[in-house]
Amino acid sequence: MKVLGIECTAHTLGIGIVENGKVLSNIHDVYKPKNEGIIPRKAADHHAEVFASVLKANLDAAKLSMNDIDLIAFSQGPGIGAPLSVGIAGAKYLAAKFNKKMIGINHPYAHVEISKHLTDLKNPLVLYLSGGNSQILVEEKQGYHVLGETLDIGIGNLFDTFGRAIGLEYAHGSVLEQLAKQGKYVELPYTVKGMNLVFSGLLTQAEKLFKEGKKREDLTYSIMETAFAMSCEATERALFLTRKKELIICGGVAQNKRLQEMLKSMCKEDNVKFGVAPDEFNRDNGAMIAYAGSVLYKKYGAMKLDSCKPITNYRIDTVDYIARG
Ligand code: FE2
Repeated sequence: MKVLGIECTAHTLGIGIVENGKVLSNIHDVYKPKNEGIIPRKAADHHAEVFASVLKANLDAAKLSMNDIDLIAFSQGPGIGAPLSVGIAGAKYLAAKFNKKMIGINHPYAHVEISKHLTDLKNPLVLYLSGGNSQILVEEKQGYHVLGETLDIGIGNLFDTFGRAIGLEYAHGSVLEQLAKQGKYVELPYTVKGMNLVFSGLLTQAEKLFKEGKKREDLTYSIMETAFAMSCEATERALFLTRKKELIICGGVAQNKRLQEMLKSMCKEDNVKFGVAPDEFNRDNGAMIAYAGSVLYKKYGAMKLDSCKPITNYRIDTVDYIARG
């Protein structure tokens, strides 16, 4: 079965084609705001502008035409309404024109499922860290269960907001990761509540110290080190509670090599297998939506057309309920 996946929850318009677990194409185009966060209208305009060329690049790479596609999977949420609507409109147009079935996909679910597939870990605890989300997940019969999560902002949002506060033109995690390598540790608030995380105090204090003249390299190193240590502590607690012997990290922030190193060393001490997918599948991408589409289609079949609309606050623990229709 050949599935075309469309990712459109935030800054990325990503399209990918997957056939029976094999990725045939995964090409995207990213809207990059300068000196500001994501402006929903601008993200939507970007996605509309590049949709046709990204689709063509994917079909060319996979050596297929739209007639060869069996199912169109699209990101349904959580995400920003305007870019989500553009991606979903594109998916609906293709489905109507080429008479294809459709399925809506929860974005975190896609990150988790492609990571399980590529790491070959069957029964892991999952740490999902991205711009808008920070969750510790475990799969149960009824679907994914959220064991712990951020009580305020997502960890990626923490880094992006801090990056803009210290004057970075393009406040991306990869830029901060390089800056952190030159820094020394400064004490910042550390807040873990059971398996939940709180990041806003960390942001407020780091911004305050920057205004007081502390070096941005030191603050960048310290904000990342503290947020990662908090994430590790909550994850280790969840590992002991669930007695899981496998851990996956996924989502945009999972690309950070220092975080991977911290989790790897924790897993080694606890005798737990550690897995992370290649960066291509941790940034937002269409192939993960296509792959998750094939998994969910096997369970529940295609979606009715009137259910194909954005769910901006779509939680992973409601996937089975929503996909069942
Ligand atoms: Fe993502």
